[in-house]
Amino acid sequence: MSTQLNILVVDDEESTRKFLHTVLTAEGHRCFLSESLDGVEELLHQQQMDLALVDLYLGTTNGLNVLDLLRVMQPQCKAVIMTAHATLETVTRSLGSGALDYLSKPLLIDELLALAGRIQSSRPVQTVAESAGPAPDTAIIGRSPKMLEVYRAIARVAPSDASVLIVGASGTGKELVARAIHAHSPRASKPFVPVNCGAFSETLLESELFGYEKGAFTGASADHAGLFESAHAGTLFLDEISETKPGFQVNLLRAVQDQQVRRVGSNKYVPVDVRILAATNKDVHALIEAGSFREDLYYRLSVVTIQLPTLADRREDIPLLVRHFLKISNAKNKKDIRITAPAVQLLRSMSWPGNVRELENFIERLSIFCASGEIGVGDVEREASTKRKAPAIAALGEGNATLQDMERQHILRVLEETHGNKARAARALGIERKTLYEKAKRMGIDLQPKKP
Ligand SMILES: Nc1ncnc2c1ncn2[C@@H]1O[C@H](COP(=O)(O)OP(=O)(O)OP(=O)(O)O)[C@@H](O)[C@H]1O
Ligand SMILES: [Mg+2]
Repeated sequence: MSTQLNILVVDDEESTRKFLHTVLTAEGHRCFLSESLDGVEELLHQQQMDLALVDLYLGTTNGLNVLDLLRVMQPQCKAVIMTAHATLETVTRSLGSGALDYLSKPLLIDELLALAGRIQSSRPVQTVAESAGPAPDTAIIGRSPKMLEVYRAIARVAPSDASVLIVGASGTGKELVARAIHAHSPRASKPFVPVNCGAFSETLLESELFGYEKGAFTGASADHAGLFESAHAGTLFLDEISETKPGFQVNLLRAVQDQQVRRVGSNKYVPVDVRILAATNKDVHALIEAGSFREDLYYRLSVVTIQLPTLADRREDIPLLVRHFLKISNAKNKKDIRITAPAVQLLRSMSWPGNVRELENFIERLSIFCASGEIGVGDVEREASTKRKAPAIAALGEGNATLQDMERQHILRVLEETHGNKARAARALGIERKTLYEKAKRMGIDLQPKKP
């Protein structure tokens, strides 16, 4: 039995859409139609596609924009550009943008079915559950002009080995973009190694990144390869790069420039082939002025800079993000919670200093506490007021509570609300699970589940 394909058709001409729909459904495929770029993202959220047939000329926009979107949201989907005016220029551009092939119009049924057949035979067998699932939670959501710029930049820079500096406020999606660049690069099957440079002291960071020789310092009981070596052939993501010290920056610059590292305590150089991505939420130019960031390293790292917009700069994406996060949390909690349109409007108008991460945590909390099955304006208002008041109430209750007391109390409250689920608690707190463990250990919070 041949497998059924999910096929997306994007064409502004109704007759073409109808034609393709008839031919493809007759062959047993499922066909999803969109007349413009606008409808595509919504469809991609709902459905994993196997093949996209995209018209090159979509009224005012260009089919290549659809390819950019596909590449970011569903990289495994094969795309084919259709055009009546195939020129070398348009074809190389489509293929350069990731299209698998192109079909010239008028479309020939045989050619079309041969193409579907090729994709069917190359497609791994999937279970229904997999193919019907929601968009993966690594998908980048947004179709505001600012995000389309970001997609274009990712698509343009991914195939090369250029260093990319990703700049944006906290929670705007810097790590997500770094992962997307790696996933769309020729290094995709090789390691992606993230390093939080802010989490280590200068010496620790050096031994983590460059590795060390046995006996290099007390406790170095065996040779140890650093993260540069672990990332060999892949991508090293240097997060919070602005937190590093100039002394370390010199060594980093040398390693990046020479593509070789020297383990601490050794005088031998090991060649490494690593693509460098870096991120910061600071204003690097100000740090360079102040002398705390080396200009030469900055130029080396920022061959391309991608600037991520704050959520306030792309409010039109908030409804999409809300639906996306609600879908994820529903799938995770096996619930079917909905949200009213006025509640979405309210979320859209609120301020989100913690950007997408804050919104994500907020939706998670809303859905945990929603008893009625539908999130309304009242729920959003209540949650927004707890969000603001929580530290104040804690402070009152504790008399002269220290900041750490308040933090401890807040962590305990969230653990209680999430029934001790550490992954969910960490998400609701906006920290990584690892950080939750560290904090719990330091504060003497018991994370072991209790027997009832
Ligand atoms: N455009 C987006 N679409 C969907 N989810 C997003 C988007 N941007 C960010 N997120 C989600 O928000 C959270 C924060 O994103 P990420 O960790 O990439 O941000 P960041 O810029 O690295 O933040 P920080 O500066 O705090 O490290 C993640 O859970 C991520 O999946
Ligand atoms: Mg980050």
